[in-house]
Amino acid sequence: MQLNDRIEDLSEAGHRPVLAEELAGLLEPQPDDTVIDCTFGAGGHARRIAADLGKDALFIGIDLDPLASRYFELFSQRQPFRCRFIYGNYADALGQLGEKGLAADLVYLDLGVSSMQVDRPERGFSYSYNAPLDMRMDRGNRVTARKLVNELEPEELERIFRNYGEERYARQIARRIARERQKEPFETTLQLVDTIKAAIPTPARFGSGHPARRIFQALRIAVNDELGSLSRGLESALAVLAPGGRLGVISFHSLEDRIVKKFFASKTGKCTCPPDFPKCVCRARAELRVITRRPVRPSHKEIGQNPRSQAARLRVAERLG
Ligand SMILES: C[S@@+](CC[C@H](N)C(=O)[O-])C[C@H]1O[C@@H](n2cnc3c(N)ncnc32)[C@H](O)[C@@H]1O
Repeated sequence: MQLNDRIEDLSEAGHRPVLAEELAGLLEPQPDDTVIDCTFGAGGHARRIAADLGKDALFIGIDLDPLASRYFELFSQRQPFRCRFIYGNYADALGQLGEKGLAADLVYLDLGVSSMQVDRPERGFSYSYNAPLDMRMDRGNRVTARKLVNELEPEELERIFRNYGEERYARQIARRIARERQKEPFETTLQLVDTIKAAIPTPARFGSGHPARRIFQALRIAVNDELGSLSRGLESALAVLAPGGRLGVISFHSLEDRIVKKFFASKTGKCTCPPDFPKCVCRARAELRVITRRPVRPSHKEIGQNPRSQAARLRVAERLG
């Protein structure tokens, strides 16, 4: 079957997991560990971590893209240990695993979009192909990029473009979209690309990177509520970790990295009371020890081999007993 062939190709050849060696080096998998990969994707990180596991390990993969379950099937067939796939949002799945009393040794997240999504033009993640404006990772999600672009107030579109895309021309682009959609609703990626190009000054069209890159990133983050899931998911990840267990997060955007950094800092037991309080009332309790004082970044070699890795940041923390 053709879909299966493409899955094989991606899992063995074309797919390069970002910071995979660094992740394994900092998580230090042990042969009998219980591991949760919250963003399984095509299983690139899973294969690296699995290389250090033995037959007594338990590996749980989570993803809200049904395609990931096909990769998981291939992955699990090759492992000597127990494997289980959970289809859904990691923030919810981790919460449920925690309620059932699971204690994980390793939990990790590799945020953002997967090659299996970007490289499939029909999913609408890429500004390089003409496709319906979709960008949903979860096909059950009722919000699509098409819905946001056609229905949000220009001020709200501007906020999304500025906050999630750090787009300098956010206002101009949002206003242009609002004007264009009165003539004809937006249906396709290239319709949006043309409008973005028309809204920005000519020199900016030839600056660094594709002129639509930041807007597509912003819409993707909004469609999939990526920052909301991350905030909820970090709390649930901490709840499911066993004492001494480790949590690793690879992010690709400064907003994501800031959420991870703040979350780690908030769990180290530092008092958060205002400085003029006579005594501590926040009763801060240390739950995590941060292992990466600074985020780990990809080497020049990795960036050379895989330009998509350039923005990656890895942070790791350990659960205290
Ligand atoms: C960057 S990719 C992961 C790639 C994977 N580490 C690999 O090596 O193949 C991110 C994956 O996370 C999934 N994802 C994004 N947000 C999610 C969420 N809230 N819950 C579950 N999966 C999510 C996406 O569908 C995508 O497959």
